[in-house]
Amino acid sequence: MQSEAAICWGSHTEWSVEPIELDPPKAGEVLVKLAASGMCHSDEHLVTGDLRTIYPIIGGHEGAGVVEEVGPEVTDLKPGDHVVFGFIPACGHCPSCARGSSNLCDNGAALLAGKQIDGTSRHHVRGQDLNVMVCLGTFSRHTVVNQMSCVKILEDIPLELACLVGCGVTTGWGSAVYSAEVRPGDNVAVIGIGGIGAAAIQGARLAGAERIFAIDPVQMKRELAPKFGATHTYPSIEEAFDPIKAETWGRMCQKVICAMGVGRGELMASIMALTSKNGRVVVTNIHPMAEKDVKLSLCDLTLMQKQIIGSLYGDANIRYDIPHLLHLYRRGQLDLDAMITSRYKLDDINQGYQDMRDGRNIRGVIIYD
Ligand SMILES: NC(=O)c1ccc[n+]([C@@H]2O[C@H](COP(=O)([O-])OP(=O)(O)OC[C@H]3O[C@@H](n4cnc5c(N)ncnc54)[C@H](O)[C@@H]3O)[C@@H](O)[C@H]2O)c1
Ligand SMILES: [Zn+2]
Ligand SMILES: [Zn+2]
Repeated sequence: MQSEAAICWGSHTEWSVEPIELDPPKAGEVLVKLAASGMCHSDEHLVTGDLRTIYPIIGGHEGAGVVEEVGPEVTDLKPGDHVVFGFIPACGHCPSCARGSSNLCDNGAALLAGKQIDGTSRHHVRGQDLNVMVCLGTFSRHTVVNQMSCVKILEDIPLELACLVGCGVTTGWGSAVYSAEVRPGDNVAVIGIGGIGAAAIQGARLAGAERIFAIDPVQMKRELAPKFGATHTYPSIEEAFDPIKAETWGRMCQKVICAMGVGRGELMASIMALTSKNGRVVVTNIHPMAEKDVKLSLCDLTLMQKQIIGSLYGDANIRYDIPHLLHLYRRGQLDLDAMITSRYKLDDINQGYQDMRDGRNIRGVIIYD
């Protein structure tokens, strides 16, 4: 069938919205008509080359839509079902899935190759195969994905809100609740208040943090951060140090969550300085793949018994956490509405990413008609 998608043809080029050809779903796959797709910073990494990829590629990995057709051997989905995509497939059977870490599913090995999980392509453009971001490609009106990437949801939640739990909200919330293990009374710093950081603030608040220090150079982000639960805001890591020291009587933050647009190794020593004895730094933001250097005091690490850990998809399990977070939204405990700053048409995707670079959005969302 014919559809339309935003394609990146090479690093540092604009998204090109053009017609694509889509094959029907094969065994275990479904055809989904997208309703909405969030514009996460991770797709920007495809454009800048911070994440290495193979072009041409359809971007987008934070999507929700309606199943239109199912291939053979699809057992749990049928046409008409509402789904949110997980940006890492969850097979349920590999050692990671079986141990309750489906964010580390062995099928994640296929993600950056840009193909379907079986290594072939369903998407084509100008007579050639197209790659897709993390087996999804949600910057497309339709896509074909494996059922392992789909989580069926109830139909009461608008899909433009539901798409947010496909990446940003689950990643940020999980970074605080699961990776950082925020406990009641903790002091928490969140560095970078985009989609990930705003959700991390909400996770820290729900986990009972006492003080939540939000750090972002953009004034609008600092103005919005208290809406998500931040108690204090600062424009930079350096400018946060003295006030956090005063506020915590020198104890600093038990948990620090890194959610900047692009992580920078040279900032790690100052991030560690915000962290308390026995405290934990959670690195959720993506650093350029090519970066190998980090400025870090390993003496501080040992003598203050600090930890630095990575966090992929907030350490979450999509089949539990996606419905769970939507339920927290229903109960009024998780704010999804305030996460969307602007809505765009697919044709306006480049404006949406420019707004992200300019710091105008917590999250921009593409709405399909
Ligand atoms: N680990 C994962 O599973 C995972 C999942 C999704 C996204 N990510 C990554 O998380 C990061 C954040 O994504 P996002 O979509 O929220 O990005 P975003 O661009 O919407 O927000 C990033 C924020 O960081 C702020 N910032 C930039 N430099 C800063 C600095 N030095 N100090 C403080 N704030 C700073 C920006 O002003 C912006 O508000 C990206 O690197 C993204 O690729 C990781
Ligand atoms: Zn993302
Ligand atoms: Zn698995």
